[in-house]
Amino acid sequence: MDPHSHARPDEAAATHLDLDIRVDMEQHRIHGTATYQLKRQAGDSVVFDTDGLTIEKVVLGNGSEAKFTLGMPDSILGQALRIALPAGIDKVAITYSTGAGAKALQWLAPVQTADKKHPFLFTQGEAILTRSWIPIQDSPGIRITYNARVAVPKDLMAVMSATNPQERSSDGMYSFSMDKPIPSYLIALAVGDLGFKSTGKRTGVYAERGVVDTAAWEFADMEKMLEAAEALYGPYRWGRYDVIVLPPSFPFGGMENPKLTFATPTVIAGDRSLTGLIAHELAHSWSGNLVTNATWNDFWLNEGFTVYFEHRITEALYGKDYNDMTSVLGYQDLLGDMAQIDSSKHPEDTALHLDLKGRNPDDGMTDVAYEKGYALLRLIESKVGRPKFDAFLRGYFDHFAFRSITTDTFLVYIRKQLMEPDRVAVDLDQWIFKPGLPADVIVPTSRNFALVDEQLVRWGKGAPAKELATKGWGTFEWMQFLRHLAKGQTEQRMNELDAAFHFSASGNSEILAAWLEQCIKNGHEAAYGKLEEFLTTVGRRKFLVPLYQALMATPKGKAVALKIYGKARPNYHAVSVLTMDQMLAWRDHKPPATF
Ligand code: BES
Ligand code: ZN
Repeated sequence: MDPHSHARPDEAAATHLDLDIRVDMEQHRIHGTATYQLKRQAGDSVVFDTDGLTIEKVVLGNGSEAKFTLGMPDSILGQALRIALPAGIDKVAITYSTGAGAKALQWLAPVQTADKKHPFLFTQGEAILTRSWIPIQDSPGIRITYNARVAVPKDLMAVMSATNPQERSSDGMYSFSMDKPIPSYLIALAVGDLGFKSTGKRTGVYAERGVVDTAAWEFADMEKMLEAAEALYGPYRWGRYDVIVLPPSFPFGGMENPKLTFATPTVIAGDRSLTGLIAHELAHSWSGNLVTNATWNDFWLNEGFTVYFEHRITEALYGKDYNDMTSVLGYQDLLGDMAQIDSSKHPEDTALHLDLKGRNPDDGMTDVAYEKGYALLRLIESKVGRPKFDAFLRGYFDHFAFRSITTDTFLVYIRKQLMEPDRVAVDLDQWIFKPGLPADVIVPTSRNFALVDEQLVRWGKGAPAKELATKGWGTFEWMQFLRHLAKGQTEQRMNELDAAFHFSASGNSEILAAWLEQCIKNGHEAAYGKLEEFLTTVGRRKFLVPLYQALMATPKGKAVALKIYGKARPNYHAVSVLTMDQMLAWRDHKPPATF
């Protein structure tokens, strides 16, 4: 059923995990035991996913050692671990250790952290990486509860996607519990010299101790976001909602690990303007974590609904103009991604429902799931009106709570609950199963951006930078401005822009990244020092891809890209390394370094 897992839940499915591990920050290794409670249905074995793990032994519930085999390694799926189960046995304890280069793990040396004194470890499970640090049935269609005991060096603190400590323990031992059934990709761990600061009754922020105060200021609206989300789609079911701010090599903007979102420090802009990302990860507490895509082919069920929900939260807090701007930027991202996919090996990836069998699921995780998914939900909303659509969504989250569903299950449900009773004229089959963007898509517009576009016209006609009417512009207006600078800006005009608006010195990662992209496209090499600094510290894939891509498209850029990448690569997480190695054809140039 799930093309990306070896598990056979119809024979035996895990229902609960007790994880007992020791984290070796020096050897870069996790060692311990994963004990599973099983629900058996048929057959005489249970199958788990592993990737690069060494399995030391497997002990059955009755205390005897089990026979097990490891299948042929597959570069994407890893190896199946098949354990023989005598009749009546419903518990197995797997003792294992992680391998070098475990894809979920990033071990950071002190220099790669904010405080430069302590090492750091974080995990990234989505999509199919959890199997590289825990032997597990690694399919989003299988849900388990878990408890964990984690031993770390005494001067460090551990946190997970579970109940968390707010202070360091004296002995480096930490206990965790997640009592709601979750899919494997949401099991997560971070270890470092962490501090905690509360931002409200149910919310707070973890970060390296020197970063906690800045992070808590930036995310001051967390509690309000949580209340806005609940007012829309029902009670938050996970207890606390905290965020951990990770070091800058974190490959994503955010990851919705339950109870504890993992976030990039690049959303700390100093003006709270990028916290829509928190609204997004929080929204996943309903769309994704409560109702989960059963396979990665159904990824749009996670992300499309979350982008819709994110916009509703930010609209409630920051108003319609904010929302219009982020919708337009998202639509631009969608058109950009669709154009790239159309000319790729897999033009069918512009359909919402994917067919990723035999491929790395990561390859199909594009803005299509996010923004075409969002566009479909907005279209349906516009046809039935908000009150009905909100009631539908609330019912959907309740109906499928703590379950993993396929696109087909969703389709049956929405047809019966909404499309048929309300005679909604939207061709769901076309939107979901066919490539491309249907003609009835609602193209978002923004009045703030209309004003930006006027200034772009003036700039194009030669107006001096200082005379542009930019008063009151925030992050999104600047992004719109920078994204639409005409090709062929001269050196003098680029200098003029930077002198007037200080883009190169911007502490806002979105503005800086958009500016650097224009610097590359316009051959403004004065900014290449800044570019190198950015690319060697930040590992967020969303920024890396367009910057390296722009470099590769310039005549001299390929050499520059490879030079910077050679330096930066050891700082990147395996997820970003995989993408960039492919994009830059790295293996054809240099022997692969170990990460
Ligand atoms: N779940 C995703 C991150 C993800 C996607 C990890 C696919 C692995 C595979 C997360 O919720 C997300 O979408 N993050 C975005 C930010 C968001 C505001 C669009 C990101 O990381 O940029
Ligand atoms: Zn998301």
